[in-house]
Amino acid sequence: MEAPKWSFLAAAIAAALLLSPLAVIGEEDGAAATKPTVVKMVKGKKVCSKGWECKGLSEYCCNHTISDYFQAYQFENLFSKRNSPVAHAAGFWDYHSFITAAAEYQPHGFGTTGAKLTGMKEVAAFLGHVGSKTSCGYGVATGGPLAWGLCYNKEMSPSQYYCDDYFKYTYPCSPGAAYYGRGAIPIYWNYNYGKTGEALKVDLLNHPEYIENNATLAFQAAIWRWMTPAKKHQPSAHDVFVGNWKPTRNDTLAKRVPGFGATMNLLYGEEVCGKGDDEHMNNMISHYQYYLDLMGVGREEAGPHEVVSCGEQATFDPSSSSSSSSSSSSSS
Ligand SMILES: *[C@@H]1O[C@H](CO)[C@@H](O)[C@H](O)[C@H]1NC(C)=O
Ligand SMILES: *[C@@H]1O[C@H](CO)[C@@H](O)[C@H](O)[C@H]1NC(C)=O
Ligand SMILES: *[C@@H]1O[C@H](CO)[C@@H](O)[C@H](O)[C@H]1NC(C)=O
Repeated sequence: MEAPKWSFLAAAIAAALLLSPLAVIGEEDGAAATKPTVVKMVKGKKVCSKGWECKGLSEYCCNHTISDYFQAYQFENLFSKRNSPVAHAAGFWDYHSFITAAAEYQPHGFGTTGAKLTGMKEVAAFLGHVGSKTSCGYGVATGGPLAWGLCYNKEMSPSQYYCDDYFKYTYPCSPGAAYYGRGAIPIYWNYNYGKTGEALKVDLLNHPEYIENNATLAFQAAIWRWMTPAKKHQPSAHDVFVGNWKPTRNDTLAKRVPGFGATMNLLYGEEVCGKGDDEHMNNMISHYQYYLDLMGVGREEAGPHEVVSCGEQATFDPSSSSSSSSSSSSSS
């Protein structure tokens, strides 16, 4: 499907990135890129800062950071078809925007919690969600259906404006703005653009299009979603994945256990969980496992079926109606 000329070019670019990552990064962050780790003691605790890769003083920045174990050539491997001529967001997504966005959350533990293996698994899990939600791969796609993550950055033929009038006082729709799915973990509806914009201090309610125009912002919104509980008294996807969350007796009875399955439960709830062998759920699992393999971690590290899947889990909050993504992903 894609011109062979392009594959050669992509390989050349990947090789260039591999050889001189700092030179590439240096275009925008020259000074920061070569900044060494700053180590300080604050109230008897060791805290660090790693320039553009891990912003601010945090104990998490003392650990392996994402760009230590996930480099540009690996990003190219995971999303190898995203710049193919038939991809719908060719030229949009790149490694630099992912790392720049991640740098805001690494000081809070994104990819930096616990040992390096936990960090690598978390990045694979997060990107598994992203890859599945933005894929245009299907059964017969060149390179296999899993090679087509980051093919989209927005919903292609939205059937509506996704303006919910119930929120007209809190998150009023801007005249003419359309709140269709956009981003790495697509955002739908005025209230979700409103909440995300508040958190990121960007006026997404009046400018939802920022998400489809800025890959760093799109990744930032997705990582924020991953790191933040959607509701009070709920853990975040990050918490259930890295083991910050301890299941209660109710959780155990509802088969909710820490792991990838619980991240799908928190982000999509009953749209994909508690339904046995759901196709969307299986697609996310396949992307996660594929990325674990490509990152050299190996899919066996994902754990047993009941940890990876949420097919048997009751949802965290069955009455949930404000999950950030609709089941109509941009790829469907
Ligand atoms: C940093 O990594 C070590 C293991 O490599 C781990 O024991 C420690 O908990 C990590 N620190 C944080 C803040 O997660
Ligand atoms: C893209 O978003 C990032 C993160 O919010 C921001 O720092 C940057 O200035 C934006 N780029 C443009 C061109 O607006
Ligand atoms: C556990 O579930 C029961 C039945 O749904 C509920 O009444 C109870 O409040 C729950 N306990 C906790 C701690 O959430």
